[in-house]
Order: sequence, then structure tokens, then C-alpha cells
Amino acid sequence: MIDFKEEIAKKIAKTIDLDYLEIEKTIEIPKEKNMGDYAYPCFRLAKVLKKSPQMIAEEIKTKIDLTDDLIEKAEVIGGYLNFYANKKTLTETVIKEFDQKQEDYGKSDFGKGKNVIVEYSSPNIAKPFHIGHLRTTLIGNALYNTYKYLGYNTIGINHLGDYGTQFGKMIEGYKRWNKEYSFENPIDDLMNIYVRINELCKEDENVLEICRENFKKLEEHQEYEVSLWQKLKELSLKEFYKIYDLLDIKFDSLNGEAFYSDKLQEVIKKLESTGKLVESQGAKIIDLEDKGMPPCMICKSNGSSIYATRDLAAILYRTREYDFDKCLYVVAYEQNLYFKQIFEVAKLLDIDEKYINGLEHVSFGMVHLKTGKMSTREGNVVKVEDLLNEAIERAGNILEEKNPNIENKDDIAKKVGIGAVIFNDLANSRIKDEIFDWDTILNFQGETRTIYTIHVC
Ligand code: ARG
Repeated sequence: MIDFKEEIAKKIAKTIDLDYLEIEKTIEIPKEKNMGDYAYPCFRLAKVLKKSPQMIAEEIKTKIDLTDDLIEKAEVIGGYLNFYANKKTLTETVIKEFDQKQEDYGKSDFGKGKNVIVEYSSPNIAKPFHIGHLRTTLIGNALYNTYKYLGYNTIGINHLGDYGTQFGKMIEGYKRWNKEYSFENPIDDLMNIYVRINELCKEDENVLEICRENFKKLEEHQEYEVSLWQKLKELSLKEFYKIYDLLDIKFDSLNGEAFYSDKLQEVIKKLESTGKLVESQGAKIIDLEDKGMPPCMICKSNGSSIYATRDLAAILYRTREYDFDKCLYVVAYEQNLYFKQIFEVAKLLDIDEKYINGLEHVSFGMVHLKTGKMSTREGNVVKVEDLLNEAIERAGNILEEKNPNIENKDDIAKKVGIGAVIFNDLANSRIKDEIFDWDTILNFQGETRTIYTIHVC
């Protein structure tokens, strides 16, 4: 494979008095696609040579030898000299290398000896797996695969939302009415039970009290409540795995929020020992005013733990279990502030700075639906499984129309349909909101988007 960056650096080195390795380090990739493939900034040279960066770029341009087939042209843009790779040479070298290496194309041991946690998907038990969860699943899986390919020891964690006071209600509802349901569509049935028990709780204080008791019993690991909770989890996972199987996604760990339920005391003790865990209206909080953020609640006024406490326990656990260099949280931007708070509070856990620096929230935008065709149930909740099956069906219809005699039609329809959904998600800007539109996703005409960038390092 031709290393274009290195070759450009060598060419520049022939025009100025600098080692090519120094030059190579400073070569950038222009942000705009139409500004070429590589850019050499001349700002630092300007100080030494006492000329404007633009003038230096011009001089290099006149002196540089571009007579081979490597570079199509060079252009001065501001204080940069930008290079446009010769697409034919580029394509040929990529295809040649791909032919040789096949599955190993792009593999390296760059990350050898380093541990990276990618936490992704993380749906909530007994709640629908919605389209936002699809995004974290796809982006997270792409990051997981990329790190793995780069030689990192990569750990994929599905931090299931399987804990919290609502499970006291779920347990009560399930206990009362489970015989009325078939659980063929477990999430639908569980949601229905949840709505019913909530209504009952509103009407009857006593039921609400029983639900609170249930959660307390669950927290105390009482057998009966734990077994019901286990049942709810199994039913939900069965549903989630229909999606994961379609997408061919696997996790190394399914340790969700509940896993940390017996690991919270250590967090609270550590925070207490810093003197920064203070009482506020009966609850225990960490004040973050000096960091310009609202306080982070650690314990509710009734003493129960919350989402944040469990995340802090997870950080502590992961430092010990995985000794991570990076711990990435692929979670929608709605939780931007939350993660800032958690990472700030994590500094009080008395852990090595390496771990604090390794914590990173990989945020992403929301998905909006182009209303109309998509099968929506209960307002705007789209069942991801339906969506994936629809993609396969639509790809099948297109195949039928364009290539009716092709063999393995079903298999190809599945690959194309699922592939299109994945590509659509990753081709969109990660942070921007996205509009889900079948016509764009399954458009086989013209140029498919070529920008396929994920911010990895
Ligand atoms: N279960 C959460 C949700 O569906 C996402 C969990 C994100 N991860 C975390 N460590 N807090 O919104």
C-alpha cells in the first residue's frame, strides 16, 4: 500500500530544509472533502523563514515534483498546501491490498496491550428497544469492531437498564396478571402490565406501598422477588436478542445496573470520606456548582440508590476488572450533562488519573422519523425489529424487480437490507439529528454517500 502521507512528506522535504518525518507529523486531513486529501500547514515555518505561510506554500508548490502518478494536483489554500491524491492510483493500491489481505485488510496491532471498554446498546428491561437504542447499538458495534481490528483488547458491555424502583411495580403487576398474557410479544405485554399497575398505584396508595416493598425486597435479594425480576429480564432479553441476532451483534458482558446493586456501599463510603457528600432535602448529593453544573444526586431521600450511583460503582468495578485505558459510553446526547457530572464525581473515587482520563462519552444525535410509511405503534415508538424486517422485505422487493433470477435471494435481501440500515446510520454525522427515510436508505441509484467516518481515537 502506498503511504500517501509519507510520500507527500518526502516530496516536500526535497523543497525545504526539514526532515520528512518532521513534515509527516504535521500533515493534516482537510475537513472539507473538496479541499483535497492532505494539507501541509506552513504556519510554523513562517516564524523560522520570516515569510507569510501563504508565500511558503506557494514556494513549495512551484518547487515540488508532482510528475509521477501519485498526486493529481497541489493547491495553496490560506497558509496550507493542499494535495489531491490521484484517485486511480489510490483505488488501484487499495484494491490490490484488499485482494491480498481479504479479511485482514486494515488490521493492525496498533492497540496491543491496551484495554478498551465500549459500552453500548444498554436498553431498559421491560421497555421497548427504540430507535435511539438502535443507534447506540450500531455506532457502538462499529467502534467495538474497529478497536478490535486495531489490536486493542476490546470489551463490549451491554449495561442493561435492569434496576430501579419501577421494578417493584413490574413485579407486582406480573404477579397479579401474568396469566392473562401469552408473552409472545413480551415487551408489549410487559408494557401493558406496567401501564395497568401504574394506574392502580394512582388509585390505591396501598398498592403503591406494596410496590415499594417489592423493590426493597429485591434490593435485599429476597428469593421470590429476585426470581420474578429474573423472569422479566429473560423475557426482555429474548426480545432484544431477536434484534441482536438480525444485526449479528454480540457482547462480552451483560452486566447491567442490577449487577452493581451490592457494590454501591463502597462508592458511598468513598464519597463520604471526601467530605463532599452532603445532605440536601433528605437526599445525598455532590455539589458541582463550582464546575458550573447542577448537583449530582447519589442517594434518594428514602435511601435507595439511583442510576448515577450504579454508574459510579460500574466505573470502580471496571478499573479493577478490566484495567481500562479507555471506557467509552455510546449514549445519546440527552445524557451529555449527566456524563459530565458522573465523570466529575468519579474524580472523588480515589482512582488513578489514567482511568479518569479514559472515560469518554461518545454522544450521538436523535433519530426523527419521516412520518408516513413506517409502521408505528403507540404514537411514535417504532419497533426496531419491525424496522429491520421491513428493510429486508424492501431490499427483497428491489431484488425481485432488478435481478429476479439471482440465487440465494433471501440471504442477499437480508444482507442488503440490514447493511443499508447500518450504513445509513454510520454515514450520517454522529452528532447531528438524523431523519430516517426509506428512500435514502435503500437508494441504489447514483453515488451512495462516500463519507464514512467514525471518530475513533
Ligand atoms: N439504559 C439507558 C437508557 O436506555 C442507557 C444507559 C447508558 N449507560 C450508562 N452507563 N448510563 O437510556
